[in-house]
Amino acid sequence: MGQCSACGAWNTLVEERQASTKHQLGSVRSSNGAGIHPLKLAEIKSGSESRFATGNIELDRVLGGGIVEGSVVLIAGDPGIGKSTLMTELATLVPDEKILYVTGEESPSQVKMRAERVGVDSENFLLLAETEVESIIRCVQDEEPALMIIDSIQTIFRSDLSSAPGSVTQVRESAAALIQMAKSTGTSTFIVGHVTKSGTIAGPRVLEHMVDTVLYLEGDRHHVFRILRAVKNRFGSTNEIGVFEMKTMGLAPVDNPSELFISDRNLLTPGSVVVCSMEGTRPMLAEIQALVTNTSYSNPQRTATGFDGRRLQMLLAVLEKRVGLPLSTSDVFVNVTGGLKLTEPAADLAIAAAVASSSREIPVPSQAMITGEVGLGGEVRAVSQLDTRLLETSRLGFNQAFVPLRGLNSNAAPKSLECVGLKSLDHMMDLLF
Ligand code: TYD
Ligand code: MG
Repeated sequence: MGQCSACGAWNTLVEERQASTKHQLGSVRSSNGAGIHPLKLAEIKSGSESRFATGNIELDRVLGGGIVEGSVVLIAGDPGIGKSTLMTELATLVPDEKILYVTGEESPSQVKMRAERVGVDSENFLLLAETEVESIIRCVQDEEPALMIIDSIQTIFRSDLSSAPGSVTQVRESAAALIQMAKSTGTSTFIVGHVTKSGTIAGPRVLEHMVDTVLYLEGDRHHVFRILRAVKNRFGSTNEIGVFEMKTMGLAPVDNPSELFISDRNLLTPGSVVVCSMEGTRPMLAEIQALVTNTSYSNPQRTATGFDGRRLQMLLAVLEKRVGLPLSTSDVFVNVTGGLKLTEPAADLAIAAAVASSSREIPVPSQAMITGEVGLGGEVRAVSQLDTRLLETSRLGFNQAFVPLRGLNSNAAPKSLECVGLKSLDHMMDLLF
């Protein structure tokens, strides 16, 4: 068939030959006659994977302590966000390892320009302008690099498949061949994938289950900050993020992200609240801004940037019902500054406080941090790792913390910090507004 009967696209069908089934279903003997034995857990050798650290603390943290030999990492992100830049920088980080950079998008001279810009000065940095999988694999077998970078998977194709490069089939099949090669030769592989909105080019999503680690490089292209987030990691924890700043000489790790995310705060504006969010093992302060205005529409608008919109709806409902804050005729905008995305429920209380502050036009004390989960009954629920959060808060010079009463041990809290334990949203409203 030329056309897919499901999606209507042309030339996307690929022949898949079925392996002949010699044995009847239910046969317990394999072809060589030996029985198939499962292994006991105790019989399996527990080898720890060997890694090499890149020396870039942000990157190492996200990878779970360094690059694992033979692992395949997918690095995904919007076009122009800095994926190629980060990959080129690997060459400056591990100058002693042989790196093969396969470029399918840019000419070698473009890559060279970028490499010079980020300061690559390595004999071991090899460039291959090739997009055909077989040739790439042959080159890897000849050169035996420690590290291979594919930039990007959407340009790579297998000549034995008829569909166009970038189609789902090509992306999946070429990646499968590269992954198999990485595993058999022990070459650590980074695969760059563009996140695309249109359906014609397959995005990184089709690869997520095949690779060991999936990293997303996020950030606003108009801001200088980039956040590298692990969404899947077979060799380390997810939730970890790395923070980078795009400079003229490439991506530089940011040592003190908390300081940076709250640095542009206008201290006296109502609607601005500082929250402490755990990003993996790391506490991070961020500023939440809310703007509540009278609506001129029949359906008031609710917009959340850097926070789940539905969670915002829920918090607004709780504020209306439990605290009596009138919001049904107001537009509500909530923004997490610096391009950070808060996924933790621990941000609830700070969002509620920001909305209430803007609605009542009363600023929250500028040296206060607010963190807690809010339940549907208006109760304030405990959050994980409160001690770590309080420590980070006091380290950045804050002197007040509004946190859940449950889990708060005032004796263990830093001395410079006045900790206020909250039971309910009402309680917070009484204290602050
Ligand atoms: P790039 O890595 O090419 O993005 P991607 O591979 O994700 O598509 O980076 C693109 C942007 O980064 C480009 O607009 C220029 C900017 N940039 C810098 O600001 N400084 C630098 O040192 C480099 C190499 C790029
Ligand atoms: Mg690129």
